[in-house]
Formats: sequence, structure tokens, C-alpha cells
Amino acid sequence: MLKGRSLIDPMDFSKEEIEEIFALASKIIENPQEYSHAADGKILATLFYEPSTRTRFSFEAAMLRLGGKVIGFSEPNSTSVSKGETIADTIRIVSCYADIVAMRHPKEGAPKIASMYSEIPVINAGDGGHQHPTQTLTDLLTMSKIKGKLSNLTIGMCGDLKFGRTVHSLIKALSRYENNKIILISPDELKVPNYIKKEILDKNNIEYEEVKRIEDVIDSLDVLYMTRVQKERFFNEEDYIRLKDSYILDKNKLLKAKDDMIILHPLPRVNEISYDIDNDKRACYFKQAKFGMYVRMALMAKLMGVL
Ligand code: CP
Repeated sequence: MLKGRSLIDPMDFSKEEIEEIFALASKIIENPQEYSHAADGKILATLFYEPSTRTRFSFEAAMLRLGGKVIGFSEPNSTSVSKGETIADTIRIVSCYADIVAMRHPKEGAPKIASMYSEIPVINAGDGGHQHPTQTLTDLLTMSKIKGKLSNLTIGMCGDLKFGRTVHSLIKALSRYENNKIILISPDELKVPNYIKKEILDKNNIEYEEVKRIEDVIDSLDVLYMTRVQKERFFNEEDYIRLKDSYILDKNKLLKAKDDMIILHPLPRVNEISYDIDNDKRACYFKQAKFGMYVRMALMAKLMGVL
């Protein structure tokens, strides 16, 4: 039963519950018009303490396409946060006005705190370098729709694996599917944190390797998940400048890739995917962003109990 629940961590829902969300997302994709009044009278509050394009707009578009309405902020200084109001008090108040909340915050754990004080479901829309569970739903739905499966895949994750919350969440979620191999492609300074290797990859006996060059592994990949270097998480600008162009995926590097490999990216991209491959049939990152809206429609409908 998903009604009334919050989504803070990618493991909050069982595999079966995720399947239930994907099944509804598929029905919505097939016939969106049929769902255009599903959330009539409902209100989504988007509380974004950090910048966003895809996540906020896709949540808002999702609620509008379900027939509901949206309130919220993308600039916390325009609210009483600037006067020192705590997350606990903000969420108590928003609970009086809305039916569901999507919250992005630079501090890890902030949406979890919000969920503890909330009367309505809270969805973590990204907390610092920690987790981004609705991006993970987007990534899994995209893989399942295009590759037709979430098991028996070799998945390369490339770029900033240290600060990239989408990678952390995706590794967690993939640990529940069988026989996947994960190849972690990053410079030494941006490797996946040890806690993820120990607590998720090792504990679940997931086959993985760490490499530095895309060229050395691209021919073995079914999915290449590119990420940007997360400028906003660096303490030192010199380090960012040194590492920011560690990887640039271009036509030349793709020559050795499988014909049916898919390229995903949570976006925004900076330099890590050359524009000249946007029209390659393997480039699926714009389709992925669209799947993100449909999966958020299904997620909110389930958490509000309207479908
Ligand atoms: N993928 C993602 O989280 O993008 P935004 O930061 O634009 O929301």
C-alpha cells in the first residue's frame, strides 16, 4: 500500500511497489488523457532550496497533467526561511495547505527530517550529495522501457561518482536486480564513496570494477550512465577546474560501443557529452527526462491514493 507514504530513499519501496508504479506509468504513457482528472482538487507543494530544471518542472507538469494544482518556491529567500524558520515548522505549515510535497535541499537528510514532521507524503527531490530517488525511478523506467529488462546488464557509471547523488541512488536500486555488472569510471578523486562499496556493492555481492578510462570498457557496456562533475559540492575551485573535463563522450569514443548500448544522463550536462552525439540513436537522455515526468505522475497518484 503506497497511499500516504513518503519517498526519501530508493529502498523505501519494495521491488513489487516499484513495479506497481511502473505499471501505472506505462498506462499513463499509453493514454495520458485518461488520467487528466485523476488528481482534481489536489495540491502539490514544491519546496526547492536548491536550483533545478527537470525535477521541479517535471513534478509540476506531472501534477498539472493529473488535473491538480501546484504551490511552492524555488527561491527560499522569498519565504520565511530567510527569517530563520526551520524545516520542521515549514513542513508543518505546508501540510495544512497541500496534499503532497516534493523537497530538494542542499543538506543531506533534510527531506527525511521534513517527513518526520509532515502530515502529508514527502518526496525527496534530491538531498545534497546523498540520494535522488525519483531520478532513480526515472532511470529504472527508462532502462526497462528501452532495454526491456533491469537484470543481466553491464552498466557503466562515469564522471563524478563521489558527489553525484543520482549514481548513489541508482547503485542502491540496482542492487536488488540479478546478475548486473557495474563498472565505475572516474578519476581517483571522484570515486564512489567507500560506504557505498561496502554497504551496497559488497554486501549484495554485486560484481563491479573501478576504472579510469571510458575507452577501456565502452565495448562491454549495455548502458552508459554519464554524470557531470558537481561544481556546487566542491570546497575548492582549483580542484573543480582540474577535474571538470575528465570525461567528454564524443563520436570517436562511441566507435567501439555496442550498437544497442544506451547513453543516459540525469542532466544537466556541462561538457561531458558532446553535442554531436545528441542525434545518435543510442543517446537516450532526452527521452529519459520525459519518462521522469510520467513516473512522477504515477508516483504522486499512488502516494495520494487517487489511482
Ligand atoms: N536530473 C536533475 O535532478 O536535474 P535538475 O537538477 O535540473 O532537477
